[in-house]
Parts: sequence; structure tokens; C-alpha cells
Amino acid sequence: MNDHTTEPQGEEAWGFATKAIHSGQDPESVTGAVTVPVFQTSTFAQEAVGKHSGYEYARTGNPTRTALQTALAALEGASFGVSFASGLAAEDAVLRLLEPGDHVVMGNDAYGGTFRLIAKVFARAGITWSAHDLTDPSELAGAWPANTKLVWVETPTNPLLTVVDIAAVAAVVGAHPEARLVVDNTFATPYLQQPLSHGADIVVHSTTKYIGGHSDVVGGFVATNEAEVHDHLTFIQNAVGAVPGPWDCYLTLRGVKTLGVRMDRHNENAAQIVEMLQGHRNVTKVLWPGLSDHPGHKAAVEQMSGFGGMVSFQTGSRDTALQVSERTELFTLAESLGAVESLIEHPGAMTHLSAAGSPLEVPDDLVRLSVGIEDIDDLLADLVTALDSLG
Ligand SMILES: Cc1ncc(COP(=O)(O)O)c(C=O)c1O
Repeated sequence: MNDHTTEPQGEEAWGFATKAIHSGQDPESVTGAVTVPVFQTSTFAQEAVGKHSGYEYARTGNPTRTALQTALAALEGASFGVSFASGLAAEDAVLRLLEPGDHVVMGNDAYGGTFRLIAKVFARAGITWSAHDLTDPSELAGAWPANTKLVWVETPTNPLLTVVDIAAVAAVVGAHPEARLVVDNTFATPYLQQPLSHGADIVVHSTTKYIGGHSDVVGGFVATNEAEVHDHLTFIQNAVGAVPGPWDCYLTLRGVKTLGVRMDRHNENAAQIVEMLQGHRNVTKVLWPGLSDHPGHKAAVEQMSGFGGMVSFQTGSRDTALQVSERTELFTLAESLGAVESLIEHPGAMTHLSAAGSPLEVPDDLVRLSVGIEDIDDLLADLVTALDSLG
């Protein structure tokens, strides 16, 4: 007997790369197009009133979007997936599970945009919030805020690369059946970490980052195994309408196909950059979960299959951090992250400015790198030149 006679297995048994390329992406039924087409249409013809193909209006549903949702849900090991126009639109849809008087717990170094959405938008609608050190879930267990309905974990965090033990927080949240655990999996991607398998109830993504992977599309995604949450999300998707267009879905899906190979290279390049930074005289501290002395290293080893391409470091002063951010050539000075090209930024003055003066303010000598997939020797030379120039 050879392998060809083996019983065909279900899609669930496929490996990550196979799912990334095939889940939700069968050849198109009319023409056989191998690539999911861009269904650039706002409406769909109906055979009779209420008799249609499953699609009626493109805010409610679009086949390109369905393919993306199916593929991403498969990669997260989730029963359901819902796509949105941006990561923040995805977060907004999840936060709409809350009602006035409900409380949301977030990590004390959540992404600045998440903080802004909760503290400046949802707070006005009667939602209360508190920021906690979620690396020590016993603190939350001992002082559980009244009416908490969501615990919002980001791991690794943007930009401090803090790692939160998802299973440990899930155990604390599990003692409160009225609460759900949300994990922002943007930095790790489902290739490196699948939060639902560690006890999360909901996973959110900015697909703008590694999942899209080419700095050419903004998007967001939510995965869950709960039918009730899925119903809420599809209702909000349609009722609020923050949907990704078909071209956005197409571009994101194109990125999904190579997510695994890109992440392997991001991991490898980041490891070498970290090694260089650790030995450089103008770097005072390097933050990366792969370092054995990183406080979250143990949890990272347990819940991640690689440490990712995001690296932050400190230079000792705001001035030197700003200078190094402006002196690289290949590392482009820009917000965002997770794409094939390397980026550098100063979080305190750029991505995390909205958290200034809050408990989530970041150190002003911090530089954040999104290590791309260029040739490592070129990336190292670029960074070393910029760091050497500080004197
Ligand atoms: C960890 C994290 N979550 C969510 C977002 C928001 O995503 P978007 O910019 O696609 O709205 C970002 C954006 O930088 C992020 O870094």
C-alpha cells in the first residue's frame, strides 16, 4: 500500500500552510478560476424575491470576504471568523458586547489605539475600564473589578513585547462565567500562537500587519468558537457596516498564503538583529521574548512556536532614540509593522502618543523595529551604521 490509497482526511487535519492556501479557497464554481476572484459588486441578482445565492448586498456579505473569513478562522482553529475594515473596527465590534455599567480589564501596556478606543470612546458610553499587570494574573484574581465582562490581553504587546500567559489569565477569567477573555494576536499571528487553544474566548487581529504582510491594506479580524459571539459580530458587521471591501479581502488573502514562510524569515532575522543589539554600546536594553532573561520567556516558549519579528530596544535618552530612528535607510521610519520591509519608529512620539500621560505611557528612549524579510546582512549593516553614528 502506498500513500495514495490513504483515506482522504478532512480539512481540519491539514497543516498550517495547506490551510493558508486552500481553506475557503476552492476554485471558483462558474469559471474554475484558481484564485478567489475580487467580487467587485455592491449587490447580487435575485432569482425571485428572497431567492438568491446566499448573497444579497455586499455590506451583509461578499464571496471574497467569505473566503478570507473562512481561511483565517481555519488558521486560528476557530469555528467562526468575521472580517472588518480595520483592526480597530474589529475591536469596536467585540467591545459592543458590553453594556453601560460593564467593566473591561486591559493590560497595562496595551496598544495605544486599543486604550484610546476603550478609554475615550467606550468610556463615554458608560463602560468602565482598568489597566492591570496581566503578567501576574493573581493580582487580577485577588482584586476582580465588579461587572467585568471582558479581559483584554495583548501578547506579545505593542511596543514593549510583554508576554502574558494566556492559559493563566484564562484560568482567572474562567472563575467568572459572565466574563470573556479576548486576545489580540496581531504580533504573534496564528502561525506562532493560537489563543483559543490556550483558553481564550475571542481572538482579534489587525490584519493590516503580518497577515496582510505587504503594507498595502488595512483590515481586522475576529475569531471565536462561540455561536453567540459570532451572531453578535455578524450583526454588528452588517448593522454598523465597517466592512472590508473586496479588493482589501483579496489582498489580505493573498498575504495569508505566504504567512508561514514569511514568519519563519521574520523570526530568523529578528534573532540576529537582537544578538547585534545586545552587544552594541549605544543600546541599554533589548526587549524580545526570545531572550532567556525576558520576563515572559517561559510563557512565550509554552504558547508560541517562535518569537516573532518585533524587537524593541532602549538607548538611554529620548534624543538618541529619535536620532537612531531617523538615521537608518533600509529600516523606513514609519508607523505600522509586520510587512516584508523593515520599519523603525519611536513609539512615544508616534504610535503610542495617544497613551501619553496615561498608565500606558511608554518609555521615551524606546525604539521599535519591525524586522522585515530582507537580507539580514543588509539589515544589520543599516542598523549598526545608525547606532554607531550616536558616538
Ligand atoms: C496590537 C495591535 N492591535 C490592533 C491594532 C489596530 O489595528 P488597525 O491599525 O488595523 O486598526 C494595531 C495597530 O497598530 C496593533 O498594533
